[in-house]
Amino acid sequence: MTIETSPEPGLPDTAVTDAQPTETLIATGGEWWRSAVIYQIYPRSFADDDGDGIGDLVGITKRLDALAELGVDAIWLSPFMTSPQHDAGYDVADYCDVDPLFGTLADFDAMLEKAHALGIRLIVDLVPNHTSWDHAWFQEALAAPEGSPERDRYMFHDGKGPNGDEMPNNWESVFGGPMWERTTNPDGTPGQWYLHIFDKSQPDLNWENPWVREQFHGILRFWLDRGVDGFRVDVAHGLIKEAGLPDYTPPEDAGSMGGGAADALVGLEPGIDADADADPATPPYWAQDGVHEIYRGWHAVLEEYDGERVLCAEAWVEPLTKLARWVRPDEMQQAFNFTYLSAGWSAPELRSVIDGSIAAFATVGAPSTWVLSNHDVVRHASRLALTAENLQGAGIGPNSPGLPDTAVGLRRARAATAVMLALPGSAYIYQGEELGLPEDIYLPDEARQDPTWFRTNHEKYGRDGCRVPIPWEAGAPTYGFGPADGAASWLPQPADWDVYARSSQQGVAGSTLELYKLALRLRAAHALGTGTLEWLGGYGPEVVAFRNGDVTVIANTGSTPVELPVERSADDVLLATEPLTEAALPADTAVWLRS
Ligand code: NOJ
Repeated sequence: MTIETSPEPGLPDTAVTDAQPTETLIATGGEWWRSAVIYQIYPRSFADDDGDGIGDLVGITKRLDALAELGVDAIWLSPFMTSPQHDAGYDVADYCDVDPLFGTLADFDAMLEKAHALGIRLIVDLVPNHTSWDHAWFQEALAAPEGSPERDRYMFHDGKGPNGDEMPNNWESVFGGPMWERTTNPDGTPGQWYLHIFDKSQPDLNWENPWVREQFHGILRFWLDRGVDGFRVDVAHGLIKEAGLPDYTPPEDAGSMGGGAADALVGLEPGIDADADADPATPPYWAQDGVHEIYRGWHAVLEEYDGERVLCAEAWVEPLTKLARWVRPDEMQQAFNFTYLSAGWSAPELRSVIDGSIAAFATVGAPSTWVLSNHDVVRHASRLALTAENLQGAGIGPNSPGLPDTAVGLRRARAATAVMLALPGSAYIYQGEELGLPEDIYLPDEARQDPTWFRTNHEKYGRDGCRVPIPWEAGAPTYGFGPADGAASWLPQPADWDVYARSSQQGVAGSTLELYKLALRLRAAHALGTGTLEWLGGYGPEVVAFRNGDVTVIANTGSTPVELPVERSADDVLLATEPLTEAALPADTAVWLRS
């Protein structure tokens, strides 16, 4: 049997075979978040309107039309609140205001209004595990005596040893170095220690304290009153620590980032069995049972508001059966599926993790929330072609082993995205992946800003390589990220990014941008987000093949072409991530066919 894949007369010989006028399509069926495609904006790297080299809210507002044209249902906006920016805004000094770097509350309101007018919902990032050390609560705690209510808002502890010189325990910060910092008393003598899972500028709040819980209910209402559609909750598995703060040493092969990767991703080497019920020893600072009560409270706050508001957990928790606890009916609505993100470009791994995910979330009536890239991980256009182990959070730079081949990475990324966007459930897209952007491996050392780079004494490159401002216009200064007469971008952009610029891809059939637009349009038209997955066999071990409603998806993760044992015409090819010139599916390629 053969497959007829040559393009129809008059159609370009490219991957895009279903060009239609662009329109905004909102996913239908059940609550919107069950099937939504949500686009992550990392504000400092999206669009710079005022020309200071850092993206801002007005810049976002002016570029929203491009996202409507892309066809996303919602935006997740990474932190834009007042912050000294020691961790790119994940160190918040005022939860109810906009950092002047990014604009004002009025700019926020205008952005939200325009997004809603375009049919795009908005989820904001909330960082409850820790504040900035500049937050008034922490400053008041430092000024207050030991044992005071102000100190009880945070995790202050006496040191061990006769003079309290030793840290309260042996915990290691996610960013490297110890998880404790010693304070200095007003009289200059050494004081208590405080806990910080991340940087020392990010002291952990004490979530056992009802006062802290009340403050956050107020913060949720502040943004809900402004009309946001929900929250992405940072480190949603870290708020409660095991009583007594026992010593803990993570396994050596653990990754380091994201709040849980340090320990939760143990076992994610190729060949992971996502169904395995093994529960890696729970570190005393992650995934403690007590966090769930907090989210039940937040769920109730969201219920006070009309519409379908959403909480999405950033929780690096394994196994999936455990992660599913974050999305029980009275808790959050979504939890990023980092087990899926961490899977290699391997059909057995993908089948296993997809099966395990759907089964685990189904037990609590939740969708899976698929994701391949974000601001904490190596972009999947590079990650999927790494040939050496790269622990999550480590990043890649010039001296990393197993650096990716750019062309192979992009090819795999396009195919991986085509698989992800055909799956039932919700999916997140990270800004720039629709352009096929690779990780910027060759950022100059002196430009790097991630605390990981500094706290590991440059041993780990960290996450700057996926945070470089995105290119809008080929040939323009900063590729149109900022105005022509504006400052250089806060992280330098590579000199060879013209080819990735939106202007280079817009309307170019087969470009990664047009591939994303096509996939999103077809996903909505065929209701794939609310569909049901049915595995198809017979294509060999290196192929992922399934049917979702009236669409058949076949992805070849292997290095040799795979026969497509069905008779089809060119009309039946809805989408192909590479040109199909023969009766076979090339390596690292995915197709969507009419079933
Ligand atoms: C997870 C965020 O995604 C990451 O960027 C941040 O550094 C840590 N949490 C700490 O807030």
